[in-house]
Amino acid sequence: MSKNKNFSSVTWPTWPQYGSDEEKAVQRVIKSNQLFAEKEVRRFEKQYANYLGIKHCLGLGNATQGLHLALAALDVGEGDEVLVTSYSWISTASCILMQNAVPVFCDIESESLGMCPQDMESKITPFTKAVIMTHMFGYPAKIEELSQICKKYSIPLIEDASHAHGAEVEGKKLGTYGDISVFSLHQRKTLSVGDGGILCTDNDEVANKVYRLRSFGDEDLSYNYRMTEFAGALGQCGLTKLDKHNEIRIENALYLSEKLQRSSKVRVRLTRSFEKGAYYGVLLDVLDTWVDFEDELTKLQNMGIPLGETWTPLHLHPHFNPVKTPARGLPWNHPSYKGAMKNIHYKDLDLPIVNYHCPKRILELYVHPPCSRIELDFLIKLIGDNN
Ligand SMILES: Cc1ncc(COP(=O)(O)O)c(C=O)c1O
Repeated sequence: MSKNKNFSSVTWPTWPQYGSDEEKAVQRVIKSNQLFAEKEVRRFEKQYANYLGIKHCLGLGNATQGLHLALAALDVGEGDEVLVTSYSWISTASCILMQNAVPVFCDIESESLGMCPQDMESKITPFTKAVIMTHMFGYPAKIEELSQICKKYSIPLIEDASHAHGAEVEGKKLGTYGDISVFSLHQRKTLSVGDGGILCTDNDEVANKVYRLRSFGDEDLSYNYRMTEFAGALGQCGLTKLDKHNEIRIENALYLSEKLQRSSKVRVRLTRSFEKGAYYGVLLDVLDTWVDFEDELTKLQNMGIPLGETWTPLHLHPHFNPVKTPARGLPWNHPSYKGAMKNIHYKDLDLPIVNYHCPKRILELYVHPPCSRIELDFLIKLIGDNN
């Protein structure tokens, strides 16, 4: 980036930024001549379990596999419904199709953009076999309420904590509220190993089943969903730096929020006072007073600022609105399914809060640790109160 005060573009720092620790870790694996899951993965699993304060932590190839195994371990299958948030990555809901079960999309609430507890409760039926919620961009969802409702109805809760390494509510780490939680270690994530995932649980039975399903167990249809030694070794490096990195992300979010509090264009979202966010990304509300929003957003992007509209709601995704029937069939049209989603047109679902916010009224910005005041000030100058 130009150091000139009047520079017209910025080079936003990339993430992740690996250094000598990671080089040594990778070399250690190469020298060991053992590349698929063994010592490094086991060590990482133990360290992550300690970090989270949970009994079992199983390393996987990615979080999508973790979500799939979570449902498989809970015996979710044909004829079952799974309640799922409509604001998330496709894996959070496509895992339901992998088990031939029926997704029932729930609305979000405006405060955290997480699954709305009231909407979730209203959609529980005798067919409900599990609930999957997400802590989007590391902002804790209303997990305490969601967890209470699931306990009341004895329905297992799966936390998709892919964005939320190290985030907390009242000192309790996200990923320890649900019966099962899943974290992503994908390249872009805050704990990044390239590709990787972790499934966490306190339940011995679930852990044993996931252990078997992960790598060619005999009893059930099982998979090769193993983590590599490289991922295990890099995961250990990332974990030692995670808390420090999270502190910087929080500082960046607070700085942006303070400096943009009088902006007529955006309002920065912060977590509530009793929460600690992981700020995988900072989310900004687009204000109605931002005229020329679309044109200006494009201009900002052309200047190198990675500010973008957020994700389209999942109930509008082609997986749930296919133009032709997939080979596995459509679980909601299957004769064995007797619930209210029969022959549903997902795109017509009435989910007012998620439809209002996503994708156009929420912007995402990556404030990774290498991001300095220079980059943040560049953005602030362009969308702050003087503009
Ligand atoms: C919320 C959420 N869940 C699950 C996933 C899937 O993670 P992975 O790429 O590790 O399979 C992602 C990926 O971006 C995600 O954002």
